Amino acid sequence: MSSKSAIRSQQQHKVFMASSEDYKICVVMVGLPARGKSLIAGKAMRYLAWVGIPAKVFNVGSYRRHATPQPAATFFDPHNEEGERMRRAAAEAAMTDMLQWFQDGKGVVAVLDATNSTKERRKWIYETCHKADIETLFVESICDDEDLIMNNILEVKTTSPDYKGQDPELAALDFRNRIRNYELVYQTIDDDEKSFTYVKLINVGSTVIINQIKDYLSSRLVYYIQNLHIKPRSIWLSRHGESEFNLSGKIGGDANISERGEAYARKLPELLRQSGVPENTKIVIWTSTLKRTIQTARHLKAETGYEKLEWKALDELDSGVCDGLTYEEIAEKYPEDFAARDEDKYNYRYRGGESYRDVVIRLEPIIMELERSENVIIVTHQAVLRCIYAYFMNVPQEQSPWMEVPLHTLIKLTPRAYGTEELRFKANIPAVSTWRGKGSSAKHQDFPAEGSEPASTAGTH
Ligand code: ATP
Ligand code: F6P
Repeated sequence: MSSKSAIRSQQQHKVFMASSEDYKICVVMVGLPARGKSLIAGKAMRYLAWVGIPAKVFNVGSYRRHATPQPAATFFDPHNEEGERMRRAAAEAAMTDMLQWFQDGKGVVAVLDATNSTKERRKWIYETCHKADIETLFVESICDDEDLIMNNILEVKTTSPDYKGQDPELAALDFRNRIRNYELVYQTIDDDEKSFTYVKLINVGSTVIINQIKDYLSSRLVYYIQNLHIKPRSIWLSRHGESEFNLSGKIGGDANISERGEAYARKLPELLRQSGVPENTKIVIWTSTLKRTIQTARHLKAETGYEKLEWKALDELDSGVCDGLTYEEIAEKYPEDFAARDEDKYNYRYRGGESYRDVVIRLEPIIMELERSENVIIVTHQAVLRCIYAYFMNVPQEQSPWMEVPLHTLIKLTPRAYGTEELRFKANIPAVSTWRGKGSSAKHQDFPAEGSEPASTAGTH
């Protein structure tokens, strides 16, 4: 990390923490195998990266795999002394690297991803972290839904590196036996551990027990984690239809949609259907409070009867004194600002307006709400859509403000176990391109209409 960006992430995490500069948290995952620990850890990483908090997962399984790439269930038998010794060594290696990472000043949140299934192991983690001035937050996932566990095994475990090249049925059976071995020694977090900060998620958050949360960042993390669910759903993202301001190359404002924008608004219900909406699925429509998104969602609302919410937090990035100008005019009137924005577009804040970083902070409640929700279509603006997309697709901060998100295109994101699937559907209605390359102040140009073939890419969390 460059010193400039290190300072920035310090500033960012100050937004989340009241006092101490060198605050460190170790999130300790707890639970039997196939309880979604790695999935929760991965999502928490994505969320922290998005809000600009340096974080890293230390997965004990990857350390164990160095010495034992494909162990059979018997390796995890608590009576297997050699197995016990090797598992302990893997946990110690992960802990050593984590402490070093904190010591190097690189991190704020580490996730120790392992079963950490005994009180003895948790006490050791707590004491080791405590000595190094690292706070601990234990996150236990408990699940007794046998069908869900079997589904988890088939969905992710049979394709894990532990079973690569093996028969999936035998792999599932072996994994079941691995769980049985863990069950012999597993101790849930109980009253003996009341002095620890912890959250217990029971059956995917249907019951949540929270104990001793002491700081703001931990409380944000706990709030985030408790809102996660694994019900199948999609999130659709669309910019508003082309606006009068888009046509004249002006940024910001509260213009009406153009004729072509109206054609897109009319086409949106069909485009949504074409993208694949499972039968009897209820979708909630979210727009900003600006006319162009409300007008774009009008026909969708009328034809489907879906519930609609308007969010101020979804309004376009506020361009302050530059609101209503074209990029050309900004380059002329505020050449230094124009260059500074190109230099660091994520952090540049318009005079009297916002930066992309500011937008991410105001979108945080939107992300929390999206995690709690099921199917949602969001009709919003270029900069805001980039920020939301960056969260789901894990796009680094320096890249996200430069992403191309064309008008008249519907993006469908479907969260999967370890990633988000993306499909794009073009409406085949021409519109100007509002994308601006670094250094350019060129006028908005028409981009040609293309076929409505979905372009599919898979992202990771
Ligand atoms: P291991 O200890 O083997 O690493 P794990 O607990 O880390 O296992 P994951 O690899 O994260 O398990 O399992 C992912 C599966 O768990 C996915 O199929 C996901 O849908 C499901 N899942 C996610 N959250 C939960 C939860 N809270 N309870 C049960 N299953 C969950
Ligand atoms: O031009 C459309 C628009 O939504 C403007 O209102 C907004 O200022 C701009 O895009 C954000 O894009 P960029 O950050 O690339 O200037």
